[in-house]
Amino acid sequence: MQNTLRILFVFGIVAEFASSLRAADLDSAPINYTTATADDVIVPLIRNIRTGKITLRHDDNHGYLTSLLKELNVPQSSQVLVYSKTSLQRSRIGPKTPRAIYFNDDVTIGFCQRGDVLEVAAADPNLGTVFYTLDQNPKKEAAFTRQTEMCLICHGSSGNQGFPGHLIRSVSPDRSGELVLSRGSKRVDHSTPFEDRWGGWYVTGKSGKQTHLGNQIVGSALSGDEDDPTTNVTDLKPYFTVANYLTPHSDLVALMVLEHQGETHNRVSRANFLVRLALAEQESLNKAFKQPNGERTEGITRRINSACESAVKYLLFCEEAPLKEPVEGTSGFTKEFAARGPFDSKGRSLRAFDLKTRMFRYPLSYVVYSRMFNGLHPEAKERIYLRLWEVLTGKDQSKEFAHLSATDRQSVLEILRETKADLPAYWKK
Ligand code: HEC
Repeated sequence: MQNTLRILFVFGIVAEFASSLRAADLDSAPINYTTATADDVIVPLIRNIRTGKITLRHDDNHGYLTSLLKELNVPQSSQVLVYSKTSLQRSRIGPKTPRAIYFNDDVTIGFCQRGDVLEVAAADPNLGTVFYTLDQNPKKEAAFTRQTEMCLICHGSSGNQGFPGHLIRSVSPDRSGELVLSRGSKRVDHSTPFEDRWGGWYVTGKSGKQTHLGNQIVGSALSGDEDDPTTNVTDLKPYFTVANYLTPHSDLVALMVLEHQGETHNRVSRANFLVRLALAEQESLNKAFKQPNGERTEGITRRINSACESAVKYLLFCEEAPLKEPVEGTSGFTKEFAARGPFDSKGRSLRAFDLKTRMFRYPLSYVVYSRMFNGLHPEAKERIYLRLWEVLTGKDQSKEFAHLSATDRQSVLEILRETKADLPAYWKK
């Protein structure tokens, strides 16, 4: 850890992360981040590799990438490309050799050209995000290593209150992908205005007159030709050898979904962490004061409620930055993602896109179907479901939910009733 930290400091990357190490004590009960057995999509894969049920295939161009995506059911259309030197394998990354990221609901995978490892971030209801590396050297058996320290230097930063989570940023890179530090950087999620997104990222897609910071370096177009467009780019061939990647895309809609999903996972898992920490504290208070089990102070209830509220608001797209014009991707991600459902009897789905004034047609995140949400602590889930029900039925008319029309609330309520098996009884009519 010390060594890694020193190396990162030399490169000047983690100055802004440094203060953040371990806001909460992740390594004691009830969380035990380092020692607890993970419950994510990588655990059964490791088991199946060990017992010979699955063999990951290695190829000279991308190592284990293609095979890993296939086994985990991660679509290649989700590919997005980042060229700023902002992550672990920085020496491999630059405008000619961007890092590729792929994702589905449960796992995100990072690939660098000639990288030593594939980087994996997997969703786990109790541990939030669990990190792995997969050695890219061809081996008899593909070797995953769970990483409990190195990745958290950046992925456990103060932006997520010290909890392990996803990280997407918009930065100002120079011609080599190095940050121009004086320009600062921004964490990106669905509340980030369109014009502030994607500094350091390639972006393929159309967005009309809406500009963004993708496909450029500080002060000019990436191509070096001032007249080249940086928005509405659909072909990345002028910038680097796209044939070195699984697909020629860095899909605009995939980027928006990744940003929404990353922060939704962060908020939902943070709610889970905070609820479990509050309950553990209550339990020791009860013990210390010889109170009956199950005794609950007002303070603890308040903490539980406020931890869940932040997730509820995000799930309901409060503060989503509006689109001023329609947007469109290039890779087929939009179609593939929307086709996955689940659908209600009227054919409606939370994965249906809008992409004209906002991201999705129905304003409740599809993350409610994920293993992260389904595995919430019962008290966290109970609270989140209660609040969703209050808002969707219109009982809660507070200002922060004013963006939800009565018909949208009703539609979401109906979709959930038909597609979500674990709703509390009072949700059914
Ligand atoms: C130096 C800081 C740093 C370290 C250390 C780091 N990352 Fe990241 N990571 C980032 C940043 C910043 C991003 C956002 C994309 C970008 O700028 O490249 C990111 C994005 C990712 C993503 C895609 C988006 C997401 O958050 O899911 C994955 C997957 C990932 N990292 C995995 C890992 C793994 C696994 C490790 C440890 C082996 C690791 N990272 C270590 C900075 C870091």
